[in-house]
Amino acid sequence: MAEDHRPPAWDLYWSTVEGQLGAGPSGFVRWALPFLQSAPGTELVEIGSGAGRDLGYLLENGFSVRGVDFSSEAVRITRQLLATLPPEVSARGHVELGEATAFLGRLPEGGLSGVVGLVLYETFTDPELDALFRGILRTLRPGGVHLWCVRDDAHPLREKVTMVPPNQGGPPGRTVGHTFFSRSRCDILTGLGFERIALEPRPETHYFFVADRKPVAGAPGAQ
Ligand SMILES: C[S@@+](CC[C@H](N)C(=O)[O-])C[C@H]1O[C@@H](n2cnc3c(N)ncnc32)[C@H](O)[C@@H]1O
Repeated sequence: MAEDHRPPAWDLYWSTVEGQLGAGPSGFVRWALPFLQSAPGTELVEIGSGAGRDLGYLLENGFSVRGVDFSSEAVRITRQLLATLPPEVSARGHVELGEATAFLGRLPEGGLSGVVGLVLYETFTDPELDALFRGILRTLRPGGVHLWCVRDDAHPLREKVTMVPPNQGGPPGRTVGHTFFSRSRCDILTGLGFERIALEPRPETHYFFVADRKPVAGAPGAQ
């Protein structure tokens, strides 16, 4: 099987941008917070937890958060960040090196309150996205939420993916392919078994912010 060049591309990205990113949480995770607070329980997973800024914000807001990222650089940076938090906050946080779908596959069914994924689904193939969304559905408890953010298909860098992270500065010939999301693509993924709570286009940044919920059996709309 061909080597997956996505993890080393993200390693290079994180080793380059370390220290240059703002310390604050993303606009997306601030938008996501009320949806996460509406879910049963406080156990979250952030897939593709990157530099850990959003993970830290979720910990500070009272959640227990397990992050997973397949970039060892990202995991190293997040562990450093966890070490700077007050002990009672960092005790609820954990990050591990691994691939997102495989990580979810090792978790018990129905145990999570929420899953968060910020700008990583772009580099998944269609079969990988299908497996990921089914894995998220399996690991959420009924009423649990999936908060996700993807680049829209009107994005100005759509034809210049060599400029989209983690590609900038990467070795030539090793460009990580990107999918840009239409509304209907988002709807198809939600339709794998979730209920849509919200889809908010952000035209200024060309993101879709999406909130989906795992149906509660017996509730209107549950299958
Ligand atoms: C945009 S960054 C996330 C930023 C993060 N929320 C923060 O606060 O810094 C996306 C991350 O997803 C990770 N990633 C992409 N595909 C992945 C996969 N299949 N499994 C695990 N991590 C993945 C990348 O390594 C990268 O660190």
